[in-house]
Amino acid sequence: MEYGKDYLVDISYVRSREELHHLLKKALDLPDYYGMNLDALYDLLSEYHAMLTVTGADEAAAGAPELADYLEALDRVCLDAEMHYEIEASKEEDAPEEPEAEAPAEEAEEAPKSERVSVFFYCMRPYDMLPIAERYAAEHNIRIGWTTGYPATDGVDLATGYDAVCVTPSDMGAEMLQAFADRGVKYISCNSIGYDHVDLEMAKELGMRVSNVAYPPSGVANYAIMLMMMCQRRIMQIMGRAGVQDFSLEGKIGKDLSFSTVGVIGTGKIGGTVIRHLSGFGCRILCYDPYRNEEAAQYAEYTDLDTLFAESDIITLHTNATEENHHLLDAAAFAKMKKGVVIINTARGKLIDTDALIDAVESGKVGAAALDVLEVEDGLYYANLEGKAIANRGMAVLRSFPNVIMSPHTAFYTEEAVRYMTEGCLAGPLAFAEGRDAEHTVL
Ligand SMILES: NC(=O)c1ccc[n+]([C@@H]2O[C@H](COP(=O)([O-])OP(=O)(O)OC[C@H]3O[C@@H](n4cnc5c(N)ncnc54)[C@H](O)[C@@H]3O)[C@@H](O)[C@H]2O)c1
Repeated sequence: MEYGKDYLVDISYVRSREELHHLLKKALDLPDYYGMNLDALYDLLSEYHAMLTVTGADEAAAGAPELADYLEALDRVCLDAEMHYEIEASKEEDAPEEPEAEAPAEEAEEAPKSERVSVFFYCMRPYDMLPIAERYAAEHNIRIGWTTGYPATDGVDLATGYDAVCVTPSDMGAEMLQAFADRGVKYISCNSIGYDHVDLEMAKELGMRVSNVAYPPSGVANYAIMLMMMCQRRIMQIMGRAGVQDFSLEGKIGKDLSFSTVGVIGTGKIGGTVIRHLSGFGCRILCYDPYRNEEAAQYAEYTDLDTLFAESDIITLHTNATEENHHLLDAAAFAKMKKGVVIINTARGKLIDTDALIDAVESGKVGAAALDVLEVEDGLYYANLEGKAIANRGMAVLRSFPNVIMSPHTAFYTEEAVRYMTEGCLAGPLAFAEGRDAEHTVL
């Protein structure tokens, strides 16, 4: 970093501490451990609705004396980074009317020429989505804001002044939608294929448009196949015991997928891909879906659900979640299955009755299960809850079983999918704002 060079950080649109961190870190090239100072700085700036400009001159803060404490911290930062800064801050209510009146006028001139639509992201991931979103937004003149939290935790106010909010599966019920609509939000952009968490009736009533995203089904399909093999080859046992140098064979014997019967429930995009890819393994494939997929029928045998339950060594779920298939796998369904059956769920947690699954694992009816989704996962996936007591007894019991693998809804998570999803989150509202249907229009 060059000494004396000017750096300007425009925080007029900054809505969250994470966003400020990101901007400052990028502009000042700060290492992560300065986050603490910037946290405090953000709190203060929020409190005073202050404007912050970092440039190459040397000035003191005006109107916000407490800021001086934090400037000291920034001083050290800048000294370390061999650079200068200038901070101008003023308490909004104290600001003299005349000179301050110029600023909004300048902003008002700039906004219309550059902004085609504005999108506020909840659950933004700075480490993978953000660079993609920033690039796409710059290319398409979209204004973005973001926070890493959920609407329920970080609040709906952050979205004030934005045309759209981008949300990851979480409560998007009537109340939440109303709160967004009250703040001028017109579009809901789901950062997921599934949109069952959005109250579509309410969205319609409010005149909101809703889009979702799509990405190649192969990522989730291959993950499901990986889980099948992990269960059948007892890989957790093998790796866990290898970790303590137990290289003995006892208890590690697996089953070969090629000699197994796999029952696929749901033969849509992902289920259909699972079937096509599984065909290469040479296993017998049964499938069930009220709607026939002709491509899947080339490789698999459509059957009724009871036959699939009775004859499958592995059962994998790939249906969307509906009221009709709530607890599709319940005690009655488990009772019809082979002893030692392997259950794979990369679809939706509500498809399985958690208590019935626990009973079936305890009785040995289910020999192994791999669950990428849980019946109750709101506020759980994707948070770092290290060291916290989690109030989710179903999950706690399932986690205690050595033959149950749980992953935190990561089946979708590939570089390819994240690019499709992030760009799709912006493309949907952009299309709506321009009076077009989005490529993936829900409503
Ligand atoms: N774990 C993850 O990361 C992840 C990622 C993407 C999608 N998903 C989930 O995977 C599931 C499948 O996604 P998709 O893109 O293939 O959806 P899709 O709409 O293409 O296919 C779903 C299929 O399920 C069928 N179906 C519905 N109810 C059924 C029932 N009771 N019995 C049998 N079949 C039934 C439908 O007819 C349809 O063919 C969805 O639940 C989705 O939310 C999970």
